[in-house]
Amino acid sequence: MSKRILVTAALPYANGPLHLGHIAGAYLPSDLYVRFKRLMKDEVLFICGSDEHGVPITIAADKEGVSPQDVVDRYHTINKKAFEDFGISFDYYGRTSSNTHRQISQEFFKNLEAKGVFKKKTEEQLFDKKAGMFLADRYIKGTCPKCGYQEAYGDQCEKCGTSLSPAELIDPVSVLSGEKPEMRETEHWYLPLGDFQDWLNEWISSKNDWKTNVVGQCKSWLEAGLSDRAVTRDLKWGVPVPLENADGKVLYVWFDAPIGYISATVEWAAMTGSPEDWKLFWQDEETELVHFIGKDNIVFHCIMFPAMLKAHGDYVLPKNVPANEFLNLEGKKLSTSRGWAVWMHEYLEDFEPDLLRYALAATLPETKDSDFSWKDFQGKVNNDLADVFGNFVFRTFSFVNRFFEGKIPELVQPTDADLALLNEIGNHSKLISDSYEKFRFKDAVAHTINLARIGNKYFTDMEPWKSRKDDIQKCGNTLHCCLQICAALSVFMAPVTPKAAGMLRKNLGLDSLLFWDDVSDKMIKSGSSILEGEIPFKKIEDEIIENQIKKLEEKAAAANPKAKEYVTEKDAIEFDDFMKLDLRAAKVLTAEKVKKSKKLLKLTVDLGYETRTVVSGIAEYHKPEDLPGKTVVVVANLKPRKIMGIESKGMILMADSPDEGLKFILTEAEPGSTIS
Ligand code: MF3
Ligand code: ZN
Repeated sequence: MSKRILVTAALPYANGPLHLGHIAGAYLPSDLYVRFKRLMKDEVLFICGSDEHGVPITIAADKEGVSPQDVVDRYHTINKKAFEDFGISFDYYGRTSSNTHRQISQEFFKNLEAKGVFKKKTEEQLFDKKAGMFLADRYIKGTCPKCGYQEAYGDQCEKCGTSLSPAELIDPVSVLSGEKPEMRETEHWYLPLGDFQDWLNEWISSKNDWKTNVVGQCKSWLEAGLSDRAVTRDLKWGVPVPLENADGKVLYVWFDAPIGYISATVEWAAMTGSPEDWKLFWQDEETELVHFIGKDNIVFHCIMFPAMLKAHGDYVLPKNVPANEFLNLEGKKLSTSRGWAVWMHEYLEDFEPDLLRYALAATLPETKDSDFSWKDFQGKVNNDLADVFGNFVFRTFSFVNRFFEGKIPELVQPTDADLALLNEIGNHSKLISDSYEKFRFKDAVAHTINLARIGNKYFTDMEPWKSRKDDIQKCGNTLHCCLQICAALSVFMAPVTPKAAGMLRKNLGLDSLLFWDDVSDKMIKSGSSILEGEIPFKKIEDEIIENQIKKLEEKAAAANPKAKEYVTEKDAIEFDDFMKLDLRAAKVLTAEKVKKSKKLLKLTVDLGYETRTVVSGIAEYHKPEDLPGKTVVVVANLKPRKIMGIESKGMILMADSPDEGLKFILTEAEPGSTIS
């Protein structure tokens, strides 16, 4: 029976472009599911849009000296286009700065306010007098109480990673004015999640088909106990709180953003000319609401938004929230600020969407974090798409074109091998669809390519290049069976590689609009014609991949603020000047702190021909007890100097890393060896 399904994908923030991590987290999985469900003849609506509120957007705008609206306009356009070009088949892509959205989220808030759901609380918050506004955590900088980093934000120290609250910062200043902010009282609306705790416990426990990573996270939130969450903020950018006594206040971005799913549906309905149709998807109990998200969004979609929907009462609740884990890139965490990312719009300049769709689908972080590497991408394209699928389709087509005038040969007295192959179509139809139904997309894709692999092996085993000379009917049977597999693949591949699947259907003379249950071992009729076969996928050369890796590393280097600290070199010197240095390997024998000094250590070192005392300013980075036994490099002919009353004969060379402080130059050489 056909179902009505509303599929949403997390609304991406419109403060930057999309990268591979976003795609693997929510957008490709949701698109695979939607394309599959459409093939199953379900009534699917696929909704997404830009999340255009929140502090990161105003920060980006301030940095550039433009308005927040300018920032979101830019990235809304870029991201919408990247999704289209990548073949993410949204029915509607909305945005939370729209009028409809403002109206609907305000109505939602008023509804909950009228029901007495919210608590109001007065709290103290930092206020910037000069800028005339309360400061969001990100708008406050100061010294980290943990590590002493002076540029820590009010919510987190980016140096040591500690999460902070603005009150913990030492010497806080406002990012806007540089002034010291003052504490002021302000009033906010809270959603008392604790009131929903019992209901949520029961509701989550009843979800026995949810992914374990999702249920696990929900349970740990629930076990920790839910507290009140502020749903308003003192900010200028956002949906204004629709009450009289709430000047200068907007809805918290995580309150308005999920309502964006509803407002986008309303806009979609208006666009189609049946403005009431949004209700089918949000107010009819028969509708299955499925949210695709990344794991960092679980608490909002499984706890906060359901509590809001429950409190409101007029809307359906999510049927499932298949959240994914994270995707890493070349073994490292993706990071926009460190430039460690592959951007969608850049990928699309160089490659076809189908290649990445397949490669990512085969490595989705479904149950644990997974890794994307360019080498692996090349492997998946060359081995699976080109060697298995592409080769199978191409040789089938070229045999039929060359030896059967492009007409599909008849199947006469099939052998067991022929029938066994045809049988795989039905088997795989079930294997693949079961996997999609269970949100196991990686498995679905593996089963799909496996059918091509089975076809390819059958082709090789049947040796049609021999039978075409001595048993043309056997050859015809082989090709007939291979063509039926191609036809099945033209549907099974459609969710993953829609372009290639469409081309294959066209070349097979099949209807462009086929459904899952049209697939059988008799999809194409003997005697009908196929077109010239093009090679669906070509191999990617090593050089192309190496260039991508280089590009990635260059971008990361350019984004690294530390790079700038290294770039100024000292003036050039003569070779003879360098040769004046007498550098030697020296083994540390003893090390102790110099009294009354924070920085200095007194070392004795063995130079092979003598033992000396050297005073070194490394105490903040190295403990005396760790040093004996290390062989380091010293400048042996530096004129002796008295430091804190100790005669120091020579200097230990240290490398200064902006990240980690002073590091030794260790050597394997014998003490006393000269270095040049
Ligand atoms: N913008 C959020 C993020 O990128 C996701 C918002 S999802 C919604 O993490 F439900 F709030 F819309
Ligand atoms: Zn810190």
